[in-house]
Amino acid sequence: MKNKNIAIVGATGAVGREFAACIESRGVPVKSLRLLASARSAGRTQTFRGQTLTIEELTEGSFDGIDIALFSAGSGISRQYAPIAVKAGAVVVDNSSAFRADPAVPLVVPEINARRIASHKGIIANPNCSAVTALVPLWPVHQANRVKRLIISTYQAASGGGAAMMQELEESTRAHLDGRDYAPKVVKYPYAFNLFSHNTAIDMDTGYNDEETKVMTEARKIFEDDAMAINATCIRVPVLRAHSVSMTFTCERPITPGEVRALLEKAPGVKVVDDWANNYFPMPKDASGQGDVLAGRIRKDLSDPSGHSISMFVAADQLLKGAALNAVQIAELV
Ligand code: A2P
Repeated sequence: MKNKNIAIVGATGAVGREFAACIESRGVPVKSLRLLASARSAGRTQTFRGQTLTIEELTEGSFDGIDIALFSAGSGISRQYAPIAVKAGAVVVDNSSAFRADPAVPLVVPEINARRIASHKGIIANPNCSAVTALVPLWPVHQANRVKRLIISTYQAASGGGAAMMQELEESTRAHLDGRDYAPKVVKYPYAFNLFSHNTAIDMDTGYNDEETKVMTEARKIFEDDAMAINATCIRVPVLRAHSVSMTFTCERPITPGEVRALLEKAPGVKVVDDWANNYFPMPKDASGQGDVLAGRIRKDLSDPSGHSISMFVAADQLLKGAALNAVQIAELV
C-alpha cells in the first residue's frame, strides 16, 4: 500500500475506528488517510500515527485521488457511494452486506480465498463477521476432508450492531445494577443480563433471520461449495466485542478430533485453545483485541456413531478478524 491514498467511510464507527487502528498497528505504509463520516461528525478530530486528522463529511467528491476506500457505514451508504468511489478510481473494500451476494463481487477471507481478489471489478466484499469466525478454522478441515454438513449456533457481541449497540449494552447494564429503569433505544429488547435472537428481519417463509441467511449463503460462496448443507442459529449475547460460535460438522470421510487439532495447529489465523484438564477454552475476553480465531472444545460428535462428525467452539474479535482486520488484510493484498 506504499504511496496509496486511503479513505475510511464510517471512520467514527465501531469498525471504522478499528480500520485506522489496524492500518497503524500493522505498520501499513500509507501516503494519506482521509476520514469520512456523516455531517454530524464533520470537524471532529482523530489521531492517526501521532497526527491529528479532521473528519470530513462524506460527499460525492470525497474519493478524488483515493486509491483504496474502506467502507463500514451500513449497506445503504455502500450502495450509494461505493460505485462513486470506484468511478473516481478507488478500489473499495466493503464491510457491509450490500454486494456480498453479487456473483461479480469477490467475497474474501484472505486465509481462504485470497486468489479471488484478482478478479475484482472495483469492489471487494468483506464477509459477515460470524461467517469469518466460523470459516477460518473450518477451511483447513474442509480442504483435508470435505465438510458436507455444518450446524452452527452463534453467540454474537454488541459490537456487531455498531457503536450505538455497544453503548446500549453498557448503559443498560449500569442502569440494571443501579436498579434504574432503562428504555432500550437501539434494540427492542432488554439487553443487560439477557440474550435474544439476532435483531435482523425474519424471512416469513423460512423462519430464518437475515443474519442466519447471510451466514449460510456466504459460507457456500466463500468455500465455493454450493452443495454444503448448512444450518445457522444466530443469537445476540451481552458481550461487548468478540463473537463465539458453536459448530458441529460432518465430513465426507471419517475424521478424529486429533486430526482436526493437528490441522488447526498449523492453520494460518487460528490459535488452538483446547485445555481439557483446566476446562480452558475459547472465550470472547481472550479473543478481544487480537487477530486470531481461537478454536477449542474439539471433540467427537457422539450423536454420529459413524465417526464423520466433530463439534468445536470458536471465538474471534468481531471488530478485528470479523471486520476491520480482514478488510485491511484484503487492502494489503490489493
Ligand atoms: P457518524 O458517527 O457521523 O454518524 P457504527 O457501525 O458504529 O454504527 O458506525 C456507523 C458509521 O457510519 C459511523 O461512522 C457513522 O458516522 C457513519 N454514517 C452513518 N450515516 C452516515 C451518512 N449518512 N454519511 C456518512 N457516514 C455515515
